[in-house]
Amino acid sequence: MISLQCLQVAESLSQSPHFPTNYSLFSHETRNPSFLGLGFRYIQHGSSRKLRIVRKSNQIDALLDYGAEISDVPLLSRSEAVEKLRIYKEKVKGKQQYLAMYSSIFGGITTDPAAMVIPMDDHMVHRGHGVFDTAAIVDGYLYELDQHLDRFLRSASMSKIYPPFDRESIRRILIQTVSASKCRKGSLRYWLSAGPGDFQLSPSGCHQSALYAIVIQDLSPFVSEGIKVVTSTIPIKPPQFATTKSVNYLPNVLQKMEAEGVGAYAGIWLDGDGFVAEGPNMNVAFVTKEKDLLMPHFDKILSGCTAKRVLALAEGLVREGQLRDIRLVNVTVEEGKKADEMMLIGSGVLVRSVVQWDEQVIGNGEKGPVAEALLNLILEDMKSGPLAVRVPVPY
Ligand SMILES: Cc1ncc(COP(=O)(O)O)c(C=O)c1O
Repeated sequence: MISLQCLQVAESLSQSPHFPTNYSLFSHETRNPSFLGLGFRYIQHGSSRKLRIVRKSNQIDALLDYGAEISDVPLLSRSEAVEKLRIYKEKVKGKQQYLAMYSSIFGGITTDPAAMVIPMDDHMVHRGHGVFDTAAIVDGYLYELDQHLDRFLRSASMSKIYPPFDRESIRRILIQTVSASKCRKGSLRYWLSAGPGDFQLSPSGCHQSALYAIVIQDLSPFVSEGIKVVTSTIPIKPPQFATTKSVNYLPNVLQKMEAEGVGAYAGIWLDGDGFVAEGPNMNVAFVTKEKDLLMPHFDKILSGCTAKRVLALAEGLVREGQLRDIRLVNVTVEEGKKADEMMLIGSGVLVRSVVQWDEQVIGNGEKGPVAEALLNLILEDMKSGPLAVRVPVPY
């Protein structure tokens, strides 16, 4: 049933004038997706159409084929399904490695990637009723865990999700998960969900909220070159939802894809009044000609933990005279585009200079000195900052 729906969606997508140009369609080729362990068999019907969708932008190929007979889908025992999951995980290796997962559903930690799954009837899966947050793992310390945890619980409260444990227990579970992973450089991601129970809209049938966490090893090289951004045409979330870090990231995903589609790194959202808001998963800041560091208020956007820390660290640049002032203000597009420097700030990018916004070159088109100084300050803070921002992991 699900396969059939996928096929229908794929066909109508392929005929849609809106079908993205960075996806290519071939109707001439059949590939056997048995490497996915899906058990499909292709049957040659004279008139059946074969359809292959290849996503060029990364390593994942989605393969759909007309002609697969529903009756050919194997019925698996639990152990067979688990074995298929294991084979799938071994064969389809992404760029990231998952070292440990905690789930309150099974009440423990696993280091087996094939077991890192959550129930299909979890309301976070089918209703988006869940919140999440992160923390970087740097040299065996969790960076800004408590700041992220506070925002996590705030988001849960705004989403009317009542955590299964108190703050201290959640914190302890997260630290233990990192400890079990043995990861010293990477990231911790965690979710609070309304929990599994049924496929209704209301969470009233959910047995209990659920906590999940995963540790991801960081294997990617650090990049800091200046980037290009574009104004997003995807609508920004209304403030109530933009200030909550829920799993409803569809607008964020679409605006990132829109930007990547035109060769930019990310989109820039404007708020309902036309002021600069934020990026898809980062905040934005500017340095004016007068050397004021400007950042949009956090009342209509996500209150970034990195941005707040950068604001605190930037005080040092004011003392040294590299900055005149630091201000949380409404920033117009015009002000932003004529700034000396523009930068993106977040746990993923840390501090990244923007050298072009739409058609406008920012400053002299090079990485800015303030962005560079702030990046060095945050890197230093991650390595040797105070214990208020660095929680040691007992391995
Ligand atoms: C929409 C949005 N804005 C800003 C940020 C930056 O927040 P942080 O610095 O806590 O990563 C994020 C990060 O997840 C985000 O998703």
